Amino acid sequence: MSIFPELEIKKITTHQIQEMKGRGEKITMLTAYEYSIAKILDSSGIDILLVGDSASNVIHGHETTLPITLDQMISHASAVVRAVQRALVVVDIPFGSYQGNSSEALRSAIRIMKESGAHAIKVEGGSEIKDSIIRILSAGVPVMGHLGLTPQSIYKFGTYTVRAKEEEEAKKLFEDAQVLQDLGCFGLVLEKIPASLAKKVASNLRIPVIGIGAGPDVDGQVLVTHDMLGINNEFKPRFLRKYANLNDIITNAVRNYVKDVKLEDFPNNNESY
Ligand code: KIV
Repeated sequence: MSIFPELEIKKITTHQIQEMKGRGEKITMLTAYEYSIAKILDSSGIDILLVGDSASNVIHGHETTLPITLDQMISHASAVVRAVQRALVVVDIPFGSYQGNSSEALRSAIRIMKESGAHAIKVEGGSEIKDSIIRILSAGVPVMGHLGLTPQSIYKFGTYTVRAKEEEEAKKLFEDAQVLQDLGCFGLVLEKIPASLAKKVASNLRIPVIGIGAGPDVDGQVLVTHDMLGINNEFKPRFLRKYANLNDIITNAVRNYVKDVKLEDFPNNNESY
């Protein structure tokens, strides 16, 4: 098995994600919100690009994921789709566009697929959004679930602490995971739950389970790209491994630019026409 299989697989599909679970190959997923970074992530061998509603926080500067709109998500998704040659593009369907009304859920999912060209959508929640999921799936739109810490429900939880530590919540999460699989979801994200529970869910489900703060015994991992690249340094949860410190790199580059312009060193003769 090659660690960088981008030369072997031309396009990742939901079927290939399923096959990866079957052969025990870990699935890689990162968030993407715009063209240039998505292009780098795609050509670096990421299997799934998630146009996450975390764009609300890291791109638009909101405190929660609630304010981002369907139009904004479609705009981010379209840019990502234009950049991608290999990865599966999954788009978060935003808060308020699918929960209470399955017809609206279908309309929102169809808009995402039609206007952005994405390959699948992701929803937060379990049995309580069953009708919306059934309706979206009936139109042939692949759906990924998301359980555990579901940021769209932050005002219900009150905090961003680890979910499903208590038996009752763990039981509900396990049952919801089965419901999502039985409805026909092609994959599931588990966010910030005990590793033992995530392991139990992943080993009992046929569909791939992707974890964020859910330990190593799941079928793949997802991180928010801006966090793992160290662009915003304020967010430091235990589950986050930083692979770069772009904040320092960008700060140094910009300081050097400011200095060069102020000292009239930039542009020089070679940089002028
Ligand atoms: O919006 C997002 O970035 C997500 C990931 C944290 C899974 O849903």
